[in-house]
Amino acid sequence: MLSIGRIVLALLPIVVFIDAQTFSTGDNSSIADCSHECSHKDESRFCLDGNAHFYERLLMGHLRYYISTQVAIDLWHKHHKQGVARNASEIHEEVREGLGLQWTGEKDIVTEKIIDSLADLVTERTQEITLRDRKHAPPTHCPIPCEYTHDLYIILLVLSGTFNIILITSLIAVCTRSAERRNRHLLVATDDH
Ligand SMILES: *[C@@H]1O[C@H](CO)[C@@H](O)[C@H](O)[C@H]1NC(C)=O
Ligand SMILES: *[C@@H]1O[C@H](CO)[C@@H](O)[C@H](O)[C@H]1NC(C)=O
Repeated sequence: MLSIGRIVLALLPIVVFIDAQTFSTGDNSSIADCSHECSHKDESRFCLDGNAHFYERLLMGHLRYYISTQVAIDLWHKHHKQGVARNASEIHEEVREGLGLQWTGEKDIVTEKIIDSLADLVTERTQEITLRDRKHAPPTHCPIPCEYTHDLYIILLVLSGTFNIILITSLIAVCTRSAERRNRHLLVATDDH
């Protein structure tokens, strides 16, 4: 009576739920190379190198998108302010202020000098690109936010719940039908006697 389709239907919520579990409990496989466990006392540099490569990837990617966004802001100015983009000191001031706002004041590693240099660098490159008279800013890609997996988890949970309801409903339907049939058999049997 339990067809293959129904067995699959019964197993699907389990599969979906296990999938959702790994999302909610933090599947860190997407953060390849990065680990909290690295130490300078490790035998090999493998772990530390992994971390270095991870942050190199992050830094380069974000620097790229940050400059692209500054170019887009320049284009916005051109578009909205009679074709006039920001001049170098305006870009520098905005970038320096923005970066400064993210600086927690710790001088342990990142100093004000680093922020100044970064602002110089971003300003120079933004101007260079803007002066080429681009019509479109280079594309940017936002990183996938934490809510993404959360949303996915909710969707999977709803899916899983829906499948369970379908399963339970069809099981109830099957049981009721066979019970009805049994009753009818009984009625026929008692009528015969
Ligand atoms: C993922 O997390 C586990 C446990 O928290 C850890 O042992 C493992 O090294 C992590 N993997 C990566 C790639 O960071
Ligand atoms: C840049 O623009 C600002 C505001 O429009 C202006 O005050 C400043 O003099 C300009 N700087 C240069 C170097 O042109």
